[in-house]
Amino acid sequence: MIIAIDGPAAAGKSTSAKLLAERLNFLYLDTGAMYRCIALSVLEHKIDIYDESSLKDFISSFKLELKTVDGSPDFLVNGSSVSKKIRTTSISKKVSEISAIPAIREYMVSLQRSFAKNSNCVVEGRDIGTVVFPEAEIKFFIIASVEVRAQRRKLELQNMGEKISLKKLRHDIKARDKYDSERSHSPLKKAINAIKIDTTKMNINEQVNYMISHVNLKKIGKNNK
Ligand code: CDP
Repeated sequence: MIIAIDGPAAAGKSTSAKLLAERLNFLYLDTGAMYRCIALSVLEHKIDIYDESSLKDFISSFKLELKTVDGSPDFLVNGSSVSKKIRTTSISKKVSEISAIPAIREYMVSLQRSFAKNSNCVVEGRDIGTVVFPEAEIKFFIIASVEVRAQRRKLELQNMGEKISLKKLRHDIKARDKYDSERSHSPLKKAINAIKIDTTKMNINEQVNYMISHVNLKKIGKNNK
C-alpha cells in the first residue's frame, strides 16, 4: 500500500508522515529530503543547472542512497550522510529553484519509485498523489496557516541551533509555496481524491490519529469488497 502525503512547506508533513509510518510499520520516504540532497550537491559542486550538458554529467555522477540508521531514515550522497546539512535555511532557499528543473525531477521520480517498489510506504512531498504515485490507495493533502507554519519552522531551526526571525520565515515559506505551486513541471497541487487536513489548530497526535482513522476505514472497505 502507498500512502501519499502532499502539501506546502512546513505544514507538518514530515512529522506526521514519519509517525504514521512508524505506527503502521511502513517505510517512510521523504522526497523533499531527496530534493534537498540534490540541491546541496548542486551548490557544493557549483553546477550551472541551466547548462544542459553539465547538468547531465552531474546527474549521472550523483549517487543517492536511503539507509535506516537506529530506526530512522538517513540519506547518503555519494556515500556520506547529509541529513543535518540539508535542513539549513540556505538549502531551503535554493531547493525550489533546483527542484523545478525537469531533468532533475525526472531523475528523482524514477529514484522515488524504485525506493518504494514492492513495499508498504508512506511517501511525502509535493507531487506524490498527482505524479509520482497517482494510483496511491490513500492520499492526504496537509495545509496550515502561514503564521503557524513559520512558528513550527522557527522551533525546528532553533533546536538545530539556527536563529531566524518569524518575519523572515514567513517570507521564505510564502516564496517557496509560490515557486512550488507555479512551476510548470508537476506543481504542488491537491490530487482530486486527496483528503485535505488543515493542521493549524491540531497537535501532532491529533493529526496522526486522524490519518490512522482514514487508513483503518480504507482497510475495512478493502476487506468488505
Ligand atoms: O520540509 P519542508 O516543507 O520545508 O520542505 P521539503 O518537503 O523538505 O521540500 C523541500 C522542497 O523540495 C520543496 O519546497 C519543493 O521545492 C521540493 N519538492 C518537490 O519539488 N517535490 C517533492 N515531491 C518534494 C519536495
